[in-house]
Formats: sequence, C-alpha cells, structure tokens
Amino acid sequence: MNRIPVQQTLDERLEAAATLLGEAGRIAVLSGAGMSAESGIPTFRDALTGLWARFDATELATPQAFERDPALVWGWYEWRRMKVLQSQPNPGHIALAQLAARGVAVTVVTQNVDDLHERAGSRAVHHLHGSLHVPRCFDCGARAAFGPQIPAEPEGGRRLDPPRCTRCGGPIRPGVVWFGEMLPEDAWQAATEAILNCDVMIIIGTSGLVYPAAGLPDLAAGRGKPVIQINPAPTDHDAYARVSLRGKAGELLPALLARLG
Ligand code: OAD
Repeated sequence: MNRIPVQQTLDERLEAAATLLGEAGRIAVLSGAGMSAESGIPTFRDALTGLWARFDATELATPQAFERDPALVWGWYEWRRMKVLQSQPNPGHIALAQLAARGVAVTVVTQNVDDLHERAGSRAVHHLHGSLHVPRCFDCGARAAFGPQIPAEPEGGRRLDPPRCTRCGGPIRPGVVWFGEMLPEDAWQAATEAILNCDVMIIIGTSGLVYPAAGLPDLAAGRGKPVIQINPAPTDHDAYARVSLRGKAGELLPALLARLG
C-alpha cells in the first residue's frame, strides 16, 4: 500500500486525500469526540478540560454507578445534553453533509452521543455509543420522553433525580452506551457493512483507544481500503492511515471539500 509520507506538506496531503475522495463512490466516516470539539463539546481525554477530568469515569458511566447514585449520573448527563442543545454543528460537520450532497454515498459512524451530524444535514448516521437524546427506562427499556430543560450551570451538572417510567415506574437512564455494555447491534452492523462496502474511509477526531470502535479503521485497512485520518495529534491509527492530515476537523474538512470543486 502506498502510504503518504508524513513529511509531505499539508498541502500535498490534502491533495492526495482529495484525489482519493474524488474517485470514491462510497465513503465511510468514523468520527469521535474531536469532531465536535470546535462546537464547544469537550473531548474525553484532553488533560484538565476533558469530560472525565472531574470524575472517575466509573463513577458516572457504568450501570453500577447509576444504581449507586442515579441523581449524580442523570444530572451529569442532563448537563451534557444541555451543552449539546446549546451548541451548533461546526464547519466540519457541515462539510461532511455537503460531501453527501455531491451525490456520493456517505455513511457516518459516530462514537459521539450528540446529534450534530444530523443537525448539519447528514442523513445516514449510526451512533455506536448511543445518543443523549433517546433516554429509556433502566428497568424495562421503554423509550421515554424528556421533562423540561435545565440550565447548563453549574459546570459538570447538578444532582437531579431521573424521571420515572410511565410504564413500570423504573428510573429513566440516558440512552448512551456505558462501560461494560454492549454496543447497539443495529448500529454495529450498519457500521461494519458501511466499512466493508466503502471505497475510502475517513476517521476524524478519535484517539483510537476505545474498542470495538477503534478496530473499525483497521478492518478497512485490512481490506485494502484507503484510510484518511484527520486529527491534530498523533494516534495509533497513524500506523495504517494512507493519509494523515494533522489539524482540526472544522478547518480540514472544508479545505478538502473545496479541493473537490
Ligand atoms: P477522545 O477524547 O479519546 O479523543 C479525541 C480525539 O480528538 C483526540 O485524538 C484529539 O487529538 C482529537 N481532536 C481534538 N480536537 C480536534 C479537532 N478540532 N479536530 C479533530 N480532532 C480533534 O475521544 P474518542 O476517540 O471519541 O465512549 O473517545 C472514544 C470513546 O471514549 C467515547 O465515545 C467515549 C469515551 O469513553 C463512551 O462513552 C462509551
């Protein structure tokens, strides 16, 4: 495989990526927290400012944590949901949606629990880690509606008792995937299908540390699909990305789109 050497200029790498995209009929995208960073949603692992900085993830993102202290967990996820509602898709989300508007089949597989891809206009979006916007009953699994919105202060949320299921009276939980839980089967299947059928895969703003999502670019590369990576920092995906574009999604995706003419 012809990997584009990292020492090439960004301009040369953008050109190489644009050529790959220009020849592709089907594009699979894997996005992570970095995709939404420029919309003001903090990533998970950025030191100090990261989403988990104030807490141990196991205090918030496990079924056991919810059973132990539902008000802490629900309050924190409601705070995150409010942050998302107050944010807007950034130029990266918009450029991806516009890529599909050129008549190319673009399937977005995201680890993000926000809805910024959808709000930017992307149609085929699969949420591997669930969504903040589809709460369900912890006990019986029934879908739930949200109560009134709460203000996004104080930072990190406040304790908030979860609403009760109208069917069984159980506590309502966020519709996200917690550590130790299975990924939604339909989203995982759609993701692997999109990747096995794509001509090019783009991975954007993901550190590649959380499996099984982190294995998807490897799956693509193993089938000989060129992988384009957009990330300001080095990642494990560098090992097999055909083109690594070092920079921000909100700048590089519009730059790529512009090159496609
Ligand atoms: P991480 O926080 O691990 O990684 C974010 C990545 O985005 C890093 O590699 C950053 O360098 C990069 N990044 C930061 N700003 C960027 C920008 N403007 N443009 C492009 N990239 C940027 O987030 P994820 O890889 O998404 O899982 O984390 C994966 C999973 O770990 C999450 O979905 C979550 C977490 O535990 C669950 O909640 C199940």
